[in-house]
Amino acid sequence: MDRNLALEFVRVTEAAAIAAAKWVGKGEGKKADGAAVDEMRDRFNQIDFKGTVVIGEGSKDEAPELYNGEKVGRGWGKTADKSANYNFDLAIDPLECTDSVAFGRYNAMSVIAAGAKGSLMNAPDTYMEKIAVGPAAAKVIDLDAPVKTNLSKVAKVLGKKVGDVTVCILDRERHFNLISQVRRAGARVRLITDGDVAGAVAACLPESGIDVLMGIGGSTESVLAAVPIKIFGGQIFCRFKPKDKHHLNLVKRHGLNTKKIYSAEDLAKGSVLTFTATGVIDGPLLRGVRFADPVIVTHSMVVRGQSGTVRYIVAHHQNIN
Ligand code: FBP
Repeated sequence: MDRNLALEFVRVTEAAAIAAAKWVGKGEGKKADGAAVDEMRDRFNQIDFKGTVVIGEGSKDEAPELYNGEKVGRGWGKTADKSANYNFDLAIDPLECTDSVAFGRYNAMSVIAAGAKGSLMNAPDTYMEKIAVGPAAAKVIDLDAPVKTNLSKVAKVLGKKVGDVTVCILDRERHFNLISQVRRAGARVRLITDGDVAGAVAACLPESGIDVLMGIGGSTESVLAAVPIKIFGGQIFCRFKPKDKHHLNLVKRHGLNTKKIYSAEDLAKGSVLTFTATGVIDGPLLRGVRFADPVIVTHSMVVRGQSGTVRYIVAHHQNIN
């Protein structure tokens, strides 16, 4: 991944995050999503590269989307800079956590994961069950192991008591049983209303206070999270959980398997990878957008696969729009 290109993507997520943040608490999820999508598409098309969206957001809930297969970047156009020979797969979520923005809740981001052509899993937008941890626990987790076993192994490698291990889980009815299993094991539960990309990636960052992510969330979110998790040396294991027959057929049509457990390496191959995110609303990874007239302040992270470097970027934008 070209160094400058990784940083160019921050401009894209910053712009999308600002566009979405204008809708916080207004009860207009689709409009927030649409604003982020339009901004992301527009900014991508100002960069000299060739990008293909291989996994996007929206078909699950009919949100406006940068559709799978869409080509973005000036590299595709006739006026393209001749040096623009970068050809990348993109997994994107212009607004991860539409409802958090619509209802002014915790945790929303704009996210791009990019990789060399063919590196990112091309999957339909459906559900997956998942477990994600940081580097210390990467080798001890097993998606099929009892919750108690996973948590005691994680506690051991982290040098903690099980009672001090924190598990991030989406607050959903489907997780009631999982939550009681975690409680019975003695671990702490951190429920989030939305946003398991941030929850999974946070497990790689000790200062986040999250040690493990468990539960069922989006497949797009699995691919997005797999990129930084892999770069950090953590692990995510997931398995498709299509919600109905239609989604099951979509998974099959993509040549994917509902029985197989996919690892971070299956979701994001090779080392030419980058992950860029800008906070829309404060969450476990990033602070959200601040409208501090006359500037707008954004908080972003850029993670590069080839160097493993994480950059945290605070930008003060002169009031745009
Ligand atoms: P959106 O970006 O579509 O709003 O997704 C938010 C999210 O919470 C994801 O982080 C998570 O993977 C997924 O929704 C879970 O789906 P559901 O809300 O249907 O349980």
